[in-house]
Amino acid sequence: MSEKVVFVDRRGTDCGKWDDLTPKFGEEGLIAMWVADMDFKVPQSVIDAEKKYLEMGAFGYYRARDSYYNAFIAWEKKYHNYDVKREWIRFAPGVVPAINWFLQIKTQPGDAVIVMTPVYYPFMDAVNNNGRKLVTSELINTNGVYTIDFSDFEKKIVDNNVKVFVMSSPHNPVGRVWTREELKKVMEICKKHNVFVISDEIHHDLINKGFEQITTATVGDYDDMLVTVTAASKTFNLAACQNSFVVIPDEELRRRYDEYTNQIRVTSGTPFGYLAVEAAYTGGREWLEEVMDIIYSNADYVTQTLTKELPGVKVSPLEGTYLLWIDFSAYLKADEIKDFMQKKCKLAFDYGDWFGGEKFGTFVRMNLATSREIVEKAVSAIVENLKK
Ligand SMILES: Cc1ncc(COP(=O)(O)O)c(C=O)c1O
Repeated sequence: MSEKVVFVDRRGTDCGKWDDLTPKFGEEGLIAMWVADMDFKVPQSVIDAEKKYLEMGAFGYYRARDSYYNAFIAWEKKYHNYDVKREWIRFAPGVVPAINWFLQIKTQPGDAVIVMTPVYYPFMDAVNNNGRKLVTSELINTNGVYTIDFSDFEKKIVDNNVKVFVMSSPHNPVGRVWTREELKKVMEICKKHNVFVISDEIHHDLINKGFEQITTATVGDYDDMLVTVTAASKTFNLAACQNSFVVIPDEELRRRYDEYTNQIRVTSGTPFGYLAVEAAYTGGREWLEEVMDIIYSNADYVTQTLTKELPGVKVSPLEGTYLLWIDFSAYLKADEIKDFMQKKCKLAFDYGDWFGGEKFGTFVRMNLATSREIVEKAVSAIVENLKK
């Protein structure tokens, strides 16, 4: 019997998504369709593991057990065909910290770092906050379907002497699951120009039917120019556990990562993180299958309703992630969208301009990892108010 996924009303639980709405958006009573976490209770296996540890009751220093590493290795092998060796695995409290640290390790202040826009905004913050030079290559948008502009990507790398590429695979926010050919082409361009690649694969378990997520590290021999950063946090709604994987096949790069994390003294996490991740990988697969059914059925519902009721709206096909990228340019100008969504519809989204500037200002990113009821409310509010 499959595990039933349970919706949680998280209001009043000190969660960022619902309880930070008013300070973040300056408006009372909004429905939260923003920030990438789920309104679902985690798998029962995770709750059981945490309960056991809580009831044991002594929270002194902890060491991650072998079964934690083995659970990750088995998961990557089974679901991603990626053979991770135990000695390649390092800890980070989040994927975003790991990206920031790799910018420190692999670049000097002023060095150029490239991203493909629109993109998850902490990539750009990481570049800017570390005093590196942000270079962007815009994805090609063909009727809502995004592809890589390889010639622009290569030209920007050459023109700016780019040192690092930060990649989102699958791509947040446009929902693309990159094909093997696309990944191969990107990696060959980076190899040719000596560009180090940080492959952020945090959404790699959330893949729609009919698509295959390819681990970048498996498309060729790129060990000395690639690090994979991933986690169970998006997959199983564990972001607060702050436990992520940094996979570093290259020995010299591991030495530099260890040196860096020793300097800042962040080399391990809490038991609550390790135990949650292990329990999710070993006992959470059925839960995940059910969650994916909910998410991708929500995506079908939103896409069908919006395109039927408002034919000008362009919804990008959701190949992976639970974040739907929607263009309202046929109905709203960039400077109207926030007022419309918040004041008229009472909805809170990640707005398009957060992902790379004003040119994406007519888009919103909708989080679908919630109940159908909430998704329906959001869609109805948009349809009714736009039709007025
Ligand atoms: C592409 C991507 N990377 C990283 C993160 C967050 O990673 P962490 O919470 O592990 O720092 C997110 C969260 O939405 C994301 O979409």
